[in-house]
Amino acid sequence: MNKGKKLYEGKAKIVYETSDKNLVIQHFKDDATAFNNLKKAKVEGKGVINNRISEYIFTNLGQLGIKTHLVKRLNMREQLVKKAEIIPIEFIVRNISTGSLSKRLGIHEGTVLKKPLLEYCLKNDELGDPLVSKEHILAFEWLSEDDLNYINQISLRINDLLSGLLRAVGIKLVDFKIEYGKIWNEDKTKKEIVLADEISPDTCRLWDAHTEKKLDKDRFRKDLGNIIQGYQEVARRLKIMPEETNIKKVKFGKPTSVKFKKK
Ligand code: TMP
Repeated sequence: MNKGKKLYEGKAKIVYETSDKNLVIQHFKDDATAFNNLKKAKVEGKGVINNRISEYIFTNLGQLGIKTHLVKRLNMREQLVKKAEIIPIEFIVRNISTGSLSKRLGIHEGTVLKKPLLEYCLKNDELGDPLVSKEHILAFEWLSEDDLNYINQISLRINDLLSGLLRAVGIKLVDFKIEYGKIWNEDKTKKEIVLADEISPDTCRLWDAHTEKKLDKDRFRKDLGNIIQGYQEVARRLKIMPEETNIKKVKFGKPTSVKFKKK
């Protein structure tokens, strides 16, 4: 599969076209950003680990009946994925209150929610990905009611499956963000909704089940240090660091060039 032109560069990934118009390559960068790009750094090796963790999670979800865009992992940093029209909403599922939920509503950090909470944010960096309601999604026709109901149901199922998969290796799934895209079905008669983007320690909050030590991007957001070690710990527990020899070639150091932009 030949890598073609760059189609899009985001904060943590680059998408390239391929010789097949229905497939693209998703490249995982080492760049880390937080607070809508106000804080930036390079975390060496992050892209390699996220590629592997996300592949593992998407493959597992796929085997459990969740449709995803993943075709296969190509190499240390790249995946071949189905080209999808990304739905402009970030779907956030929360099991424990922390982050923007605790800040916004004054809910005590660490409060276990009685049932998973679904939130929606509009994917728009210029506006800082604002929180929106179901009514906004329907009013502005970002999704039809049927598609929204379907995504809500799939998102809660992903939460159940992922919580179980992680709990089995001593990790609590505190919250996570997922994205979906639309692709044509096999016989090109209708578009279907598939899980897209990535699921990794960049897009989840993952706490050690016993100590509640953070193993995710909060290590970067909150300057806790040992970012890559947290991500590696997740990969190690999931037993998915098979390219041990290659991975050793990747330098795992402190983040370099942390920059803050004034608002
Ligand atoms: P929040 O508490 O900052 O709103 O984050 C909720 C979850 O969504 C958390 O697991 C981190 C993830 N997330 C992203 O993946 N991308 C983002 O841009 C934001 C704001 C959060």
